[in-house]
Formats: sequence, C-alpha cells, structure tokens
Amino acid sequence: MLRLALFLLVLATATAGERLTVPTPQEAVERMVELAELKPGENVYDLGCGDGRIVINAARRCGVRAVGVDIDPQQVAKSRANVQRAGVGDLVTIVEGDIYQTDFSDADAVFAYLQPDLLNGLIPQLRRMKPGARIVTFDFGIEGAKPSRVERGAFGGRQHCTIYRYDVPWKDDAGTTWDIFTPSP
Ligand SMILES: C[S@@+](CC[C@H](N)C(=O)[O-])C[C@H]1O[C@@H](n2cnc3c(N)ncnc32)[C@H](O)[C@@H]1O
Repeated sequence: MLRLALFLLVLATATAGERLTVPTPQEAVERMVELAELKPGENVYDLGCGDGRIVINAARRCGVRAVGVDIDPQQVAKSRANVQRAGVGDLVTIVEGDIYQTDFSDADAVFAYLQPDLLNGLIPQLRRMKPGARIVTFDFGIEGAKPSRVERGAFGGRQHCTIYRYDVPWKDDAGTTWDIFTPSP
C-alpha cells in the first residue's frame, strides 16, 4: 500500500514539462478495452499512447479504427514498431503530436493514462466529445466528474489499481450534466 501511495505521488506530482511513460499493466489494458464496450468500426484514441498497446488491443479485439497520439518521438517509434509487429496497420495510426492540439471530436471512445494535471487539462476537449462516447482512464480520474463505473483491483502484479469509465455527457458530484452547453464550473 505504501509503495502504491509513493508511486501515485511520484506520478501525480511530476513537474510541468516532465512526462512520465509508465505503461499500463497488460491485464489492465485488456480490462480497459472491455470496459469501453467498443463496436467494430468505431473511432478510438489513446491520448498519450506510450508503446501503443491500448490501441493495438482495441483494434485487434474489437475491429475499431484506433489512433494513438504521443508527443515523445521514442514512444512513437516504439508504438509504430509494435503496430507493425501486431499486423494491425490497417486499423491503427500512430501520430506524433500534442494531445492538446489533437482533434478527437470524432471519437467514440478515448483512453488516457495521464498524471492529473495533464488529464484535467484535457477537460475542455473531453467535454466537446459526442454524446454516447466513453472515456476510460487509469489510476487517475477526471477532476469534478462522476464516473459511471469504477473498478479497483490488482492488475499484472500491481496492487490497488483503479480504472474509471465516464459516459459523455457526464455529471459532476452535484448532478449537473457537463457538456458543451454547460458553462465551466
Ligand atoms: C503514463 S504514459 C501512458 C502510456 C499508455 N497510454 C499506457 O497506458 O500504457 C503517458 C504518455 O503520455 C505521453 N504524453 C504526455 N504529455 C503528452 C502530450 N501533451 N501530448 C501527447 N502525449 C503526451 C507521454 O509521452 C507518455 O507516453
């Protein structure tokens, strides 16, 4: 428990400009993809895709079109090699870029494993997603938003992991619906 607390603290307090590349455990990747309830042909993004395992898993298992975006050229190269190795190049695109400059308004589902400041910085874009879209995050939830599912457990030898699913438009703790028509709190 102490080790987990320290791990999350390091992740959560990474200073601006510092990007953490801790991967989601494979078992959690699989559960996150299940929780998103993807249908063939849907559009899916992993915002900060790291080694690309989430988009590869989603494309392989669910037949979705998947885009992984990462700002780190090394992660992008790793992702692209993994996509090629997995033989899902027809469904998966890896983009080198900044998630805050990425238009993912066509997304049916978005995955994100980002430290809190990075995840919460995405809120204006997440609020513009289309109704019915799902957002699945790992370890950290979206500030002020009420998840529709929360799963806690051990994944791939890592204790005390948390997966959050949000359905767009989502509600906050006071029950207010957050969508593009609701003023920012
Ligand atoms: C904790 S890792 C998660 C990787 C992968 N999604 C996973 O779950 O295994 C976060 C990733 O986000 C990327 N990242 C951080 N800030 C970013 C930004 N502004 N734009 C794009 N990628 C970013 C990092 O380079 C890193 O690969």
